[in-house]
Amino acid sequence: MAGADGGHLLARGGAGVSPRPRVLVTGASGNVGAPLVEHLLKGGAQVRVASRGEGARVPEGATAVRFDFEDPSTHAPALEGVEKVFLLRPPALSDVKRHLLPVVRAVKEAGVRHVVFLSLLGVEKNQAVPHAKVERFILEAGVPHTFLRPSFFMQNLSTTHRDDIREHGELFMPVGSGKTGFIDTRDIAAVGARTLLEDGHEGKAYDLTGAEALSYAEVARLFTEVLGRPIRYNEPGALRFAARWYRRDVPLAYIAVMTGIYTVCRLGLAGTVTRDTETLLGRAPISMRQFIQDHKACWM
Ligand SMILES: NC(=O)c1ccc[n+]([C@@H]2O[C@H](COP(=O)([O-])OP(=O)(O)OC[C@H]3O[C@@H](n4cnc5c(N)ncnc54)[C@H](OP(=O)(O)O)[C@@H]3O)[C@@H](O)[C@H]2O)c1
Repeated sequence: MAGADGGHLLARGGAGVSPRPRVLVTGASGNVGAPLVEHLLKGGAQVRVASRGEGARVPEGATAVRFDFEDPSTHAPALEGVEKVFLLRPPALSDVKRHLLPVVRAVKEAGVRHVVFLSLLGVEKNQAVPHAKVERFILEAGVPHTFLRPSFFMQNLSTTHRDDIREHGELFMPVGSGKTGFIDTRDIAAVGARTLLEDGHEGKAYDLTGAEALSYAEVARLFTEVLGRPIRYNEPGALRFAARWYRRDVPLAYIAVMTGIYTVCRLGLAGTVTRDTETLLGRAPISMRQFIQDHKACWM
């Protein structure tokens, strides 16, 4: 757990609860955003859900506002009167100078007191990834901030890889025996809510992982036990993996990013486990077994 400027977080003592802060949540329909909105509402925040579409689901108690990273005319109106912002980079937007920098500037101009940015574990050692650039934009703008730097989402298994598991009974990633410190996005959301509802998290960066690093063979065994049918870990090479996704008409750029990410895992660089999640939540992170149990229906 480190200060975003590299210093260490000493303690959270003295953190006070802000009364009903007005919070704008970007990515509110996503893996992290949806449970975050629920936590914020339960914690008494006034939640404004940033939404592109007319038909977006707005949880009871929240309000919706039109907001599109790709349409700068929506930024200032969405931020009017907002005290805090949860910011993410939508996965499809890789030109962050074009799509995120204007938002960071609008956040600064709106006088927002605190922005919590969903970043990426290890970002401080990899300045080429988009999240590193966004962290820099925020630092340069001088907006009080907290960076959440999570590891691999367990929810990748219930979204991107759901059909391989459900229809082929297999995990199909080119990871070899590399281990991954998976985290459940519900834990990221719980941490995010805490950092938005309490004072005392400004200037901090939290490295968020689950409690253990698992190989995909171990994950396959957990699936087999919980679903009660065999799920095997098919260990493709990078080419075979890319070819399967190419046949599914997935854009080449996306396939390249996925293959790159899994190569990092294969090299054993995704196995980091930290205690930040447990320290911030005061309980053990959600386990892979629990995640599979809770989402069982989506693979049946
Ligand atoms: N997957 C992982 O293992 C992992 C690990 C670490 C960090 N991350 C980072 O986490 C972030 C993704 O978080 P997530 O999984 O919670 O998101 P997600 O489920 O992919 O959802 C993306 C959200 O962004 C919104 N969005 C997309 N384009 C938009 C636009 N032009 N304007 C406004 N909103 C837009 C979507 O809204 P609509 O409902 O309108 O589509 C949706 O709410 C990425 O930055 C990723 O790099 C991911």
